[in-house]
Amino acid sequence: MSGKIKAGKLYVMGVGPGASDLITVRAARILSELDVIYTPTGKKGTQSLAHSIIEEYLSPTTQVCTYHFLMKGERAAKEAVWNEVAQALKEEIASGRKVGFITLGDPMLFSTWVFLLERMISLEQIAAQQMKNPPWLEIVPGITSFSAIAAAGVMPLAMENQTLVVISCMAPETVLEQALLNHDCIVLMKVYSRFALIHELLRRHNLLEYALMMADATLPTEQCWRDLAALSPDVSPNAADSEQALSYFSTILINKNWQLSR
Ligand SMILES: C[S@@+](CC[C@H](N)C(=O)[O-])C[C@H]1O[C@@H](n2cnc3c(N)ncnc32)[C@H](O)[C@@H]1O
Repeated sequence: MSGKIKAGKLYVMGVGPGASDLITVRAARILSELDVIYTPTGKKGTQSLAHSIIEEYLSPTTQVCTYHFLMKGERAAKEAVWNEVAQALKEEIASGRKVGFITLGDPMLFSTWVFLLERMISLEQIAAQQMKNPPWLEIVPGITSFSAIAAAGVMPLAMENQTLVVISCMAPETVLEQALLNHDCIVLMKVYSRFALIHELLRRHNLLEYALMMADATLPTEQCWRDLAALSPDVSPNAADSEQALSYFSTILINKNWQLSR
C-alpha cells in the first residue's frame, strides 16, 4: 500500500489485556468515532474477547466485523486469513472510512496485527516514512499483559542494572533454559500448553519460589499462583484432559531478586 493514500485511516489499538478500563484515553476517543471495527476471535462463532472489552466505548453506528484468526494448524490456512483481513482493511481505508482494529495488550507484542501490518506495508516503505506511521495508519499502544500482571501481583519487572527478557514458551527448550539462566527477570508468555516443561525447568534451576503465574489477568476469572511448587505440573490447557485447566491467557513472571514464598 502506498503512503500517499489520503482517504480513510486505520487505527490499531491495544485494549485490556482484560479489564475494560485499562485503555488509553486516545484509544477510547478513537473507538467512539469509528465507521467500522475489525475484532479478532480465536474461536469460530464466539464473541471476540477484545470486542467485549471495548463494547462500551463504541458508537452504536459503528459496524462490527469479527474475524476468526486460526491459532493452531497449517501455516497456509493462517496466512489465507491474514491475507483476507489485510485486503479487507486496505479496501476499507481506500473507501475513505475510519477503520479500527483491536488487539489484546499491546499491538506490537506477539500480536496477529503484525502479520497484517507486513501485508500492508513493506520495511522499505516504513524506512521511507522515516520510521513514522504512514498517513493512513495510527498504532495506539496498549498495556501489555506482563505490565498488568506485574501491577496486579505486586512484582517488579526489573530494577537498576537487572536484565529483563520476554520470551514465548513456544521457543525451543534450550532457548528457554538459557533465558532462565542468563537474566535476572523473565517474562514467560504463551505458557498454557508447555506448563509441564516450564515447571520442570523452574524446578531444575530452583526458580519456582521466584515465579508468579497469572491467568486471565484483570478479568473477572483472574487466577494467581504465587507458589508454583504446589501446583501440579500436569495442569492442562484443555479442560477435557484435566480438571485443572490452564487458560490460554496465562503468563509467568520471574524476578530472582523478589522471592515470593519464603
Ligand atoms: C498472542 S499473545 C498476546 C500478547 C499481548 N499483545 C500483550 O501485549 O501482552 C497471547 C499471550 O499473552 C499473554 N496474555 C494476554 N492477555 C493475558 C491476560 N489477561 N492474562 C495473562 N496473560 C495474558 C499470555 O501469555 C498469552 O498466551
